[in-house]
Amino acid sequence: MSEKKLTKQTAIVTGANSGIGEGVALALGEAGANVVVNYVINPDAANDVVQKIRAFGSEAVAIQADVSKEDQVINMFQQTIQQFGTVDILVNNAGLQRDAKFHEMTLAQWQYVIDINLTGQFLCAREAIREFLRRGIVPERSIACGKIICMSSVHQIIPWAGHANYASSKGGIKMLMQTIAQEYGHQKIRVNSICPGAIKTPINKTAWDTPQAYNSLMELIPYNRIGVPEDIGKLAVFLASDDSDYITGASIFIDGGMTLFEGFATGG
Ligand SMILES: NC(=O)c1ccc[n+]([C@@H]2O[C@H](COP(=O)([O-])OP(=O)(O)OC[C@H]3O[C@@H](n4cnc5c(N)ncnc54)[C@H](O)[C@@H]3O)[C@@H](O)[C@H]2O)c1
Repeated sequence: MSEKKLTKQTAIVTGANSGIGEGVALALGEAGANVVVNYVINPDAANDVVQKIRAFGSEAVAIQADVSKEDQVINMFQQTIQQFGTVDILVNNAGLQRDAKFHEMTLAQWQYVIDINLTGQFLCAREAIREFLRRGIVPERSIACGKIICMSSVHQIIPWAGHANYASSKGGIKMLMQTIAQEYGHQKIRVNSICPGAIKTPINKTAWDTPQAYNSLMELIPYNRIGVPEDIGKLAVFLASDDSDYITGASIFIDGGMTLFEGFATGG
């Protein structure tokens, strides 16, 4: 990337020490942003991401916080503001799966996924909006007052047997994102979702780590390759930058065509 579109802006990326979050944190750092690499476990991996971002000439710091815990989220924003003065970009990325057949799903499995994937996005977005409103627009940095990017999934629209908790969390993110976008658009805060299909990360290792699994996955993807975190990083830079200034309340699917429902190419 040659042009640094996010210079002087500060971004928090949750769950940034692995997979998509890491790809997004690196891309934002390469685009010139100061990056807070949030993590909950594995500080070594978070520090590696920090070092890689510093190698681009950008500032980075690792901050531990469980996104489902209100006090820890508030503390992460306070630390960020202390260090960098404000927050311009939030990437609500942290998320996980606890899969079970619906009739066997425990309340604990349901609640754990909702708490991290959905309530975590609420808590972080609320702190971001509070800071955006406090600070106001700084035209030298961005036309917008602030940008929030929610990591959703193709499963905000594709039902997913055996993953009712996960699919419900992503469906909830869709409406959370749209509601905040509607509520704060007039204050020039932009809120959008990225909806990845299959991206090669630890969360879905069983779907790509054997040739048999990979071939079966390809039956769902017209474009015939698995995505990589860099694909998502590029889109995140676009959504965080003024290049996307007229985009708010949008869900952008980045899935090699998974939501084209490949089965209908020959069936139906
Ligand atoms: N990989 C895919 O194919 C895919 C597809 C669609 C959506 N997504 C979404 O992308 C996001 C990132 O997933 P990934 O594929 O990179 O998986 P990953 O397991 O590599 O990364 C998830 C990250 O979230 C962090 N995390 C988990 N619980 C947390 C908590 N309580 N507080 C803070 N951080 C926490 C993990 O430590 C990890 O860093 C998730 O929201 C996931 O639902 C992934």
